[in-house]
Amino acid sequence: MGEGVLVLFSTPEFIRNNDVTHPYRQDSDFFYLTGLDEPESVMVLSAGEHPQLTLFVRPRNKEREIWDGPRTGVEGAVAAHGANNAYPIEELGKRLPELLKGHEKLYYRFGVYPECDQRLIGALVRSRALARRKGRSPTHLIDSAAIVHEQRRIKSGGEIASLRQAIEITRQAHLAAMLKARPGCFEYELEAELLAVFRRSGSERAAYSSIVGSGPNATILHHIRNDRQAQAGDLVLIDAGCEFDYYAADITRVFPVSGKFTAEQRQIYQIVLDAQQAAFDAIAPGASQDDAHAAALRHITEQLIEIGFIQGPLELALSEERYKPYFMHRTGHYLGMDVHDVGLDQTMGKPRPLEPGVVITIEPGIYIAVDNEQVPAAYRGIGVRIEDDILVTETGYENLSQSIPKGLDEIEALMAGAAQSSAR
Ligand code: GLY
Ligand code: MN
Ligand code: MN
Repeated sequence: MGEGVLVLFSTPEFIRNNDVTHPYRQDSDFFYLTGLDEPESVMVLSAGEHPQLTLFVRPRNKEREIWDGPRTGVEGAVAAHGANNAYPIEELGKRLPELLKGHEKLYYRFGVYPECDQRLIGALVRSRALARRKGRSPTHLIDSAAIVHEQRRIKSGGEIASLRQAIEITRQAHLAAMLKARPGCFEYELEAELLAVFRRSGSERAAYSSIVGSGPNATILHHIRNDRQAQAGDLVLIDAGCEFDYYAADITRVFPVSGKFTAEQRQIYQIVLDAQQAAFDAIAPGASQDDAHAAALRHITEQLIEIGFIQGPLELALSEERYKPYFMHRTGHYLGMDVHDVGLDQTMGKPRPLEPGVVITIEPGIYIAVDNEQVPAAYRGIGVRIEDDILVTETGYENLSQSIPKGLDEIEALMAGAAQSSAR
């Protein structure tokens, strides 16, 4: 920051219905910088000659703590969260203008929590009044994302360790769900299996609503109702990841609920698997996420022409986006505290080179609409996405989710083992 003052608000609590709130999950930027997971908290980081961190928190309160559990309090904010000064949140209105005063630059991200924006504007106006006779108040407003999100884009060793743990728990969850799956099972039963493993293993929560799509539901990209009964012969697509220590895994696997892929399912699956490998091969420091996307897209388009789903020639099919009805999303995104993590992937209108410490997903897919009459009936309703989590390294990449089975024969062997152990 050099000089300036940065202000971050915690996520407010959100009402779900009447007096029930959504489970609380701290704002990622706020947690990244404070490690504090309580609502009604504000951090003020003053840079310059005398840098200091000021935290405003809910004060200890014997009566409220009987209902809601212990609070960090003013003392804990100093002792456990690195604050130089801490105050009860009730004092924010009085103290924030003083903290803004004297700085030229204010780092703040408007538009995330509108009611926080109002409080900040109020404090800024007050600080101008205070500075009228003596001193100054901020005149340069800078989006805090410009520094915080840039920092979050490159993961530290500790962050990568948390991601590895999230991915390991997610591996166990995907395996448990596969082993549980049977023709006739409901998608929500498999979702329950995932959540059971997440929580049993110490994960706080799912990183996003688990997607369990059987049969044609596998072609719905964000199918989260998970209320269908899987039929014999269906593929099941599971896109699920847990959050561990505030870091998200994001993994997709697809398997045949009856244990064996049909010839058509095999064929589509293999194309997606090869497209994923093509994307992996394009990853290196210096290459961009666009390069990985282009590699996956090229392979999928080439193969869609090959099996007669779309018309060639390849270059024309690519430029006219003829693949779009079958592959309509990007091949990946940054991954971190947010499942679609922060960080720019373009700078000055150009794709941004990957760097060591960046984590991305690679997740090509092919989705054949159930009512697509341009393809033979046996292909309709097939949806395949294969998603892994990739750490960019000095020399290339590491697939952090490598150990979650995805080979065709490997998956069939796993399902055969599951059928056998349940028959016993
Ligand atoms: N689960 C959302 C995604 O894969 O991006
Ligand atoms: Mn996913
Ligand atoms: Mn993803």
